[in-house]
Amino acid sequence: MAYFVWDEDLDVGVEAMNDQHKHLIDLMEVVYEKNAAGAPREDILAAVDELGNFVIEHFRDEEAMMAEQNFPGLEAHRQLHANLLKDFTSHTEAFRNSDQNVLPEDFMAFLSLWINTHIMAIDTKYSPE
Ligand SMILES: [Fe+2]
Ligand SMILES: [Fe+2]
Repeated sequence: MAYFVWDEDLDVGVEAMNDQHKHLIDLMEVVYEKNAAGAPREDILAAVDELGNFVIEHFRDEEAMMAEQNFPGLEAHRQLHANLLKDFTSHTEAFRNSDQNVLPEDFMAFLSLWINTHIMAIDTKYSPE
């Protein structure tokens, strides 16, 4: 059974963003599985970097979508994205600069919290009524 899974609780009511969240969660799952399978460190890092690149793309698209809808919570949401990206980058760089072959558990906990707090509680606020 997959560790990171999209489900209906994460429905934000905007199809394009649901599709991106599904892709985001799939990329998180690839990281999880490579890590759990004991894949070589460079494969894990490649999966983490692919996730990071998509995160940047997703935040940009999501912010553009909110701007287009004149969503009043845009600035606060933008700040949350900046914080998430900063935390993601510091987790990633800590692993890159370590001599570890396995991602620490707090990395998975961070990704899990992202899904359950940011997507579920924050992204759903831009859902159309
Ligand atoms: Fe999102
Ligand atoms: Fe967001």
